[in-house]
Amino acid sequence: MALKRYPGFIDVHVHLREPGATHKEDFYTGSRAAAKGGVTMMLDMPNNPTPTITIERLDEKIALAKKAIVDIGFHFGTNGKNIDQLLPASKRKEVYGLKLYCNHTTGEMLIEDLALLEKVYAAWESPKPILLHAEGIQLAGAIGLATAYGRRVHMCHISLAIEVELVRRAKEKGFPITAGVCPHHLYLLGEARETLRGFAIMKPPLGTKEDQEALWVGLKDGIIDVVETDHAPHTREEKSGEKPAFGVPGLETMVPLMMKAVKDGRITEERMMDALYTRPKKIFNIPDQPDTYVEIDLDATTKVGEGGYGSKADWSPFEGWELPGKVMTVVIRGKRVL
Ligand code: DOR
Ligand code: ZN
Repeated sequence: MALKRYPGFIDVHVHLREPGATHKEDFYTGSRAAAKGGVTMMLDMPNNPTPTITIERLDEKIALAKKAIVDIGFHFGTNGKNIDQLLPASKRKEVYGLKLYCNHTTGEMLIEDLALLEKVYAAWESPKPILLHAEGIQLAGAIGLATAYGRRVHMCHISLAIEVELVRRAKEKGFPITAGVCPHHLYLLGEARETLRGFAIMKPPLGTKEDQEALWVGLKDGIIDVVETDHAPHTREEKSGEKPAFGVPGLETMVPLMMKAVKDGRITEERMMDALYTRPKKIFNIPDQPDTYVEIDLDATTKVGEGGYGSKADWSPFEGWELPGKVMTVVIRGKRVL
């Protein structure tokens, strides 16, 4: 056994489904998945069936999340019609950013109207980032709006080579822009839909080999700042039908998949720590977690799915993959949670 100690890993993008869709996940099962995956702090998205777009809904979520066994923060949501809620929400310590949907996905928060988008950018007078679900041309538009209003933006789960290029150019111009990539876009291609069917359907969709190579280069160079899971649990039934729900669970596999990237020489261990701890903490101003750490046995491997999952979804697109390293211990503020 070669135990190595790491700081608790951070995932800035998860969908824990509570309240409203707890048949998929809840704060306890989602946090159990996080602990199994070595994640000690995560930021939950607002696209619940009743979205987190009012202070009242936010307070409800904060109360429900008390059952979690790891730390959780929240991104506030907007449909463009809750402008009066944005300033008070931005001042809450539990809120780490504002999530804005510019493409269709799970939930009812899509904003396509430029006048509404403009109102949101104008109202979010906060150094906390606006997180964008913006694919392709929408991402280009978001860079324009962010620049016009001087807002910090984080481009979620970028998946196309052209998006890496746009982020690179915006950074070169000094714009306050950051970006994240998901493990599934780094490791799976569109072809996976032929075998995994609905279990390989998510937003943004899996791409081409060229896109994937650009994501790896962007991650290695640090143009892509962070790895984020977009942990999006749905039941097997919801993924098996004619119209599969969008998304895949990811909390339990992110760290082992990144350890594989290090082992395969894709990125250095320093870049891994930067993308899974240092930069998420800095970008979202996440407080220190004192006396918190994760121990990984570098001699052991993780076989995905073996021994069951922490997540209620109970499946993974990486099922059966043998990945380097095994999370053995997770301690949060002196208390062992795994
Ligand atoms: O695949 C996805 N699933 N993409 C999203 O943007 C939302 C997520 C979900 O909440 O299911
Ligand atoms: Zn998401």
